[in-house]
Amino acid sequence: MKKLIHPILLFITLILSACSSREKEMDRFVKELMAHMTVEEKIGQLNLPVTGEIVTGQLKSSDVSNRVRAGEVGGLFNLKGTENIRAIQRIAVEESRLGIPLLIGMDVIHGYETVFPIPLGLSCSWDMEAVEIMAEISGIEAGSDGIAWTFSPMVDVSRDPRWGRVSEGAGEDPYLVSQFAKAMVRGYQNAGILPCVKHFALYGAAEGGRDYNTVDMSRGRMYNVYLPPFKAAVEEGAGSFMASFNEIDGVPATANKWLLTDVLRKQWGFEGFVVSDYTGILEMVDHGIGNIEEVSYRALNAGLDMDMVSEAFSSNIKRGLEKGQISPKRLDEACRKILEAKYRLGLFDDPYKFCRRNPETPDSIIYSQAHRKEARRIASESFVLLKNESILPLKKTGTIAVIGPLADTRENMAGTWSVAARLGECRSVLDGIRSATEGKAKVLYAKGSNLVADEQLEQRATTFGRAIPRDGRSDQELLLEAVSIASRADVIVAALGEASEMSGESSSRSDISIPDVQVKLLEELLKCGKPLVLVLFNGRPLTMEKEVALVPALLDVWFGGSESGDAIADVLFGDVNPSGKLTMTFPKNVGQIPIYYSHKNTGRPLGEGQWFQKFRSNYLDVDNDPLFPFGFGLSYTRFEYGSVQLSTNNLSQNESLEASVVLSNTGDYDGKEIVQLYVRDLVGSVTRPVKELKGFQKVFLKAGESTTVSFHLNASELGFYKANGTYFVEPGEFELFIGPSSTTVNSAKFLLN
Ligand code: BGC
Repeated sequence: MKKLIHPILLFITLILSACSSREKEMDRFVKELMAHMTVEEKIGQLNLPVTGEIVTGQLKSSDVSNRVRAGEVGGLFNLKGTENIRAIQRIAVEESRLGIPLLIGMDVIHGYETVFPIPLGLSCSWDMEAVEIMAEISGIEAGSDGIAWTFSPMVDVSRDPRWGRVSEGAGEDPYLVSQFAKAMVRGYQNAGILPCVKHFALYGAAEGGRDYNTVDMSRGRMYNVYLPPFKAAVEEGAGSFMASFNEIDGVPATANKWLLTDVLRKQWGFEGFVVSDYTGILEMVDHGIGNIEEVSYRALNAGLDMDMVSEAFSSNIKRGLEKGQISPKRLDEACRKILEAKYRLGLFDDPYKFCRRNPETPDSIIYSQAHRKEARRIASESFVLLKNESILPLKKTGTIAVIGPLADTRENMAGTWSVAARLGECRSVLDGIRSATEGKAKVLYAKGSNLVADEQLEQRATTFGRAIPRDGRSDQELLLEAVSIASRADVIVAALGEASEMSGESSSRSDISIPDVQVKLLEELLKCGKPLVLVLFNGRPLTMEKEVALVPALLDVWFGGSESGDAIADVLFGDVNPSGKLTMTFPKNVGQIPIYYSHKNTGRPLGEGQWFQKFRSNYLDVDNDPLFPFGFGLSYTRFEYGSVQLSTNNLSQNESLEASVVLSNTGDYDGKEIVQLYVRDLVGSVTRPVKELKGFQKVFLKAGESTTVSFHLNASELGFYKANGTYFVEPGEFELFIGPSSTTVNSAKFLLN
């Protein structure tokens, strides 16, 4: 293996061969290597330059190759394809002075060529084993096509569905997002690639839900709500972090020493490296905290190790050293962190270890039948049945009209941030329904409407080649055709909602409803008087109170990935019983945002069962309840909960209690139920949320079966962080709830001594 590497590296490796442990060996290897490095070469390791958009061909720019040759580049990202990556790696390893391999990264967010549901959808499965499998498969595919490092998981808690990036995260709850963070990190690590946990931190709290906007937040909320998923990822051994674009206490995360050094390294013991987000350093000039030279020093000194795209470190750090603004020790530390990551990945042993894809049998690992099967299974677990008035499951007989702008668009199924997807090969709703009913039912199709009436808005909303081609016909013509087709059918499946790029980065919306032109289509379809199922595509919670009232059945399918269409058919026809539950609250209107289950009670809460009381905390024009609460989701079967039983009503510190319920499947179908455990700290030295998720289990029960579902809760899990970051467990009375959603009132009380 070692023959692949450069003579100096070989020399260092040989003299260290006597070393015992891998970490010790790494220490000495990196130290020796750094002793041979010039200042310029060290700065080069900190540089992650732009390569253009996703590069699928060989890198054209000789500039990048020359810079790699000169040792000015530590890594590259968003290059695709083993051969291309091998070619540039060869330059780094064989033609640069020290032969240090490049770290090759990519945004592998919810799959590689096999694409899984968007993370928000994936989280609605509440199935952490599935999350881990999805990350592992993504890592296996990317990791055999040249990618060693993924800019994932995104673990930003967010309570504002206007923010398009809620699609990339796992919803509103710190406990659930923490479990998700751990599962994702484990999955990537199982596949041997390096996760990059992002966006550190508070990015999900951008004011007004407008992407890249200012954040201002109390320390208590940071520690209790926004930071826990990042801490969980560190505990799982995540090796790299990405700093977020936003500011924290007036200082952008990219140069925030409190965040990057005091919290991340000192409080949590993180030992990996931190990369900026795309042009994050340069953007601090616009934030208004200094010129490029000053912000470069601030970033490095704050604890940022790698510069994505700004070329700020490459052009300023040497001067900073000369001026005494940067210490050689800090440069060495950043460089060492990056070399260590490369070492741990095994790149010094074999720089081409991630270039395993065989051009002769390209689909043997990537996009394999086995991976696609898992993608289909996991997608069907992510769908959430929001309403069903005895319409679903459908029969595979008669005439089925599949209608809507999202019915026949393969390109939109993968969802946002699926840069390596085979878009044209994704399975659409129409594909799925056709193959599920082949030879049994007649399937008709009509587009029914454009995505939105306004052409300009449509262009903005459907970028990256995923536009749903506008129909040359007028809205009226499309509508008439759809109605005529629908009236010939026994049942209508309406595929409506957002296009995939209406959520994701830089896709905030101030109006999060289903576009008007589609609502009009829905209303006209309903007038046909046929049973209708709304199959809803969305990258965020939508406001749709009126539509929910109108339709007899509603299945939220998010963006399910490459196998969407078949997974949707599996659920529509009852081959799979839906089991997903929401991980983000759906508001009734935009004015209720931010809305989340884990809110504080306030000094003027509404009385029980009230929707308005003067001088209480409420609105004149809408009640305080959401359209759909966190944790909600239906099944084709019925689950019933017995009362909560506690092993003790008097818990001491250092002890744990067991809480259980009897769960019964009293319906006609076998099915899975997500049993949720919440706690309320009834009296605290500071105000506490009305409910906090502390556990969940996904339980399978055959029709007619019952089981006891038990949770162990340690007293130590009942605490919270104070504003200074210390964790306290306060004695007092608690209420513990177990039920099917965050609105459950099935509870018992206990005392913590
Ligand atoms: C995004 C990151 C992403 C990076 C690299 C940025 O614009 O905020 O999430 O990882 O680009 O593509």
